[in-house]
Amino acid sequence: MWGGRFSEATDKFVAEFTASVNFDKRMANQDIQGSIAHATMLGECGIITKDESQKIIDGLNQVKAEIEKGEFVWKVELEDVHMNVESRLTALIGDVGKKLHTGRSRNDQVATDIRLWLRDETDNILALLKRLQGGLLDLAEQHTETIMPGFTHLQTAQPVSFAHHVMAWFEMLCRDSERFSETRKRINQMPLGSAALAGTTYPIDRTITARLLGFEGICQNSLDAVSDRDFAIEFTANASILMMHLSRMSEELILWMSAQFGFIHIPDRFCTGSSIMPQKKNPDVPELVRGKAARVFGQLTTLLTLMKNQPLAYNKDNQEDKEPLFDCVDTLTGSLLAFADMLPNIVPNSENMRAATLKGYATATDLADYLVKKGLPFRDAHEVVGSAVALGVTKGVDLAELSLDELRQFSDLIGDDVFECLTLEGSLNARNHIGGTAPQAVKGAIERGRERIA
Ligand code: ARG
Repeated sequence: MWGGRFSEATDKFVAEFTASVNFDKRMANQDIQGSIAHATMLGECGIITKDESQKIIDGLNQVKAEIEKGEFVWKVELEDVHMNVESRLTALIGDVGKKLHTGRSRNDQVATDIRLWLRDETDNILALLKRLQGGLLDLAEQHTETIMPGFTHLQTAQPVSFAHHVMAWFEMLCRDSERFSETRKRINQMPLGSAALAGTTYPIDRTITARLLGFEGICQNSLDAVSDRDFAIEFTANASILMMHLSRMSEELILWMSAQFGFIHIPDRFCTGSSIMPQKKNPDVPELVRGKAARVFGQLTTLLTLMKNQPLAYNKDNQEDKEPLFDCVDTLTGSLLAFADMLPNIVPNSENMRAATLKGYATATDLADYLVKKGLPFRDAHEVVGSAVALGVTKGVDLAELSLDELRQFSDLIGDDVFECLTLEGSLNARNHIGGTAPQAVKGAIERGRERIA
């Protein structure tokens, strides 16, 4: 490809070491799509004839068909996907194929390919996110009255509904979805036309290629365009945050599925057993997703580190962007698929959840609020309830199980209407505002959630 300047052939190991075709062939479709747009533009601008342009396009479609049928022979000595495609094109259509690379460089070509590829993957991830969110809404809808302990410090804090907890996950995913949609705009900018780094001497029209390729903007500086990988870093950062969310959800599922919590049942088809302990049913899917988050964080670090010392413009270092990005996309896609299939199918054990909620003095704050509403300053109320809880702990009973007399020894503001606020249902119902856990409030959140993902 560059033999003219060289006096000896590339060392065999160096050729293999510098080649990227084994992984960048994954962008073959985008590479051909970009080349077809480029050839069309060259023809329309009179840089090559319309006839030459058409021959090139037909040839590229032939190459595409060969790849799809698995007949294409990838050659490591041709280094990368771009030169493999171009070389095959010329073999198929003859010398006119050599005109395709007019006014273009692999530097703007590869940047264009990655963006086209990542744009499609982003759309796929957005669709998967939406499916998972829909599943969460379905799950939440059935459980606005299923009561479980809400935790802080993993200690029972206040009663919440299972639906409220599921809707917290939904919110996390809404932000993820927003982030990917935002990043998509910056992915969808076209580097093509920047050529090697400075632009090209041919009278190209970049608006033609941008329109053909569905780019919503054109990169405005050729030096930046060929070297910028911010969009990939941003994507991987979004992926890291999303994986962090899936990992937190995993952690909860794993805890809840344990015999000690006994909060949920995960259907057998999402679990595996042990080769030695016959009784075991393990939450492998959430555990694996929790583990896979680490690898996506690693890819983010890889990409940031890859870019931090690079002077403008293109450097061969950039070839190292693809494997981390591909792995990030594969890991994220797999994790989302597993979650979208599994999560709507988890079954809460409402009796165990209720029993656990009754154990941890979850309505203590409700008692304090009750006293405040009777005129006691909150700090004093806090003190009174603390003493009542201490008595409950000594006697081994919940607040609602203390008698009115026992409660009144701490404050004579307590009347027999107190037991209403000490029940779990009363506690939930009292939090009836936007963002609160009352069944009515959560139903509203679910309804709005449907609109948000529509
Ligand atoms: N395989 C290269 C990459 O992935 C394509 C661009 C090569 N450009 C160059 N000047 N060597 O980045």
